[in-house]
Amino acid sequence: MTGAPLDLRVKIGAATLKNPVIAASGCYNRGEEYAQIVDVGRYGAITLKSVTRSPRLGNDMPRVFPTPGGLLNAIGLQGPGIDHFLAHIAPELSKVPTAVIASVAGFSVAEFAEVAALMDGLPNVIAIELDVSCPNVDREGQCFAADAASLAAVVGAVKSRVKLPVIPKLMPNVADLRPIAQAAQDAGADAVSLINAVRGMVVDVANARPMLANVSGGLTGPAIRPIAVHAVWEVAGTVSIPIIGMGGIETGNDALEFLFAGASAIAIGTANFRDPLVHVRALQGIEEELRRRSVASVRELTGMARTTQAKAGSH
Ligand SMILES: Cc1cc2nc3c(=O)[nH]c(=O)nc-3n(C[C@H](O)[C@H](O)[C@H](O)COP(=O)(O)O)c2cc1C
Repeated sequence: MTGAPLDLRVKIGAATLKNPVIAASGCYNRGEEYAQIVDVGRYGAITLKSVTRSPRLGNDMPRVFPTPGGLLNAIGLQGPGIDHFLAHIAPELSKVPTAVIASVAGFSVAEFAEVAALMDGLPNVIAIELDVSCPNVDREGQCFAADAASLAAVVGAVKSRVKLPVIPKLMPNVADLRPIAQAAQDAGADAVSLINAVRGMVVDVANARPMLANVSGGLTGPAIRPIAVHAVWEVAGTVSIPIIGMGGIETGNDALEFLFAGASAIAIGTANFRDPLVHVRALQGIEEELRRRSVASVRELTGMARTTQAKAGSH
């Protein structure tokens, strides 16, 4: 198999990515800064920062704090809103040297559907991810991704307005992810992304107060990887739609953990801040593993740990 062409393509609904390595939302913009130092086009896709209907200033500072093995952030969905996005950012998307996944955040079902509809059909955009970790103002602030019915309502409403594949992004702060993922699939989701940041906080001991102005934040980076891998494992045993796995990926080996647990593709967020070549290393690690196992298609790696476990269990 050494030297034989490898098939790195993966399918997310009707969309095909050239490889399974994706830049995670909120960590890469459209890759324009990174393009000055690395080949952004090696990513199979870049997920944009989540866009809301109205402009948002985000939370007060400080809103980012490094922790052991991770990063705590409470950016608070800072962004210019959909009108600015359509006028100034959307026309630039055809220059992105790989596929683009748009991301929508909202505080009501109607907001998600409206913003997603405006993103459908933009140049280079091949799918729409939904950041459903926001409070639902129509349901007493309960997080969409924490409640199967709220999530299903968002996914259903977006699906009825867009043609592109729809990918809700699930969060780990729930008692059981499986019924939530099942509700997403039943409502028509073409794939699910997981996981979003894990809720956490740091206390500034010298000043005896929370370190972040927002008090709590989302923990990302390698500290959350085992949580994320387990989430993928559980959801892969529940749904039949593809999973985009993320949370602390820094190496090819990390990416393989997610694929073997059941993800079809992986996304990298925090690691980009430290190592702008992380996507190239992850991709190389996946390619090496394919060669080592004499497997031609990356799609064959998905769920490999599940198959191995099933075989071991049958003896
Ligand atoms: C600074 C920062 C901003 C983020 N913004 C968003 C966002 O706007 N929308 C979203 O869905 N996820 C957002 N995320 C979450 C990431 O996309 C990803 O799910 C999470 O960071 C886990 O992956 P990682 O450990 O590789 O960073 C953000 C993460 C960070 C660190």
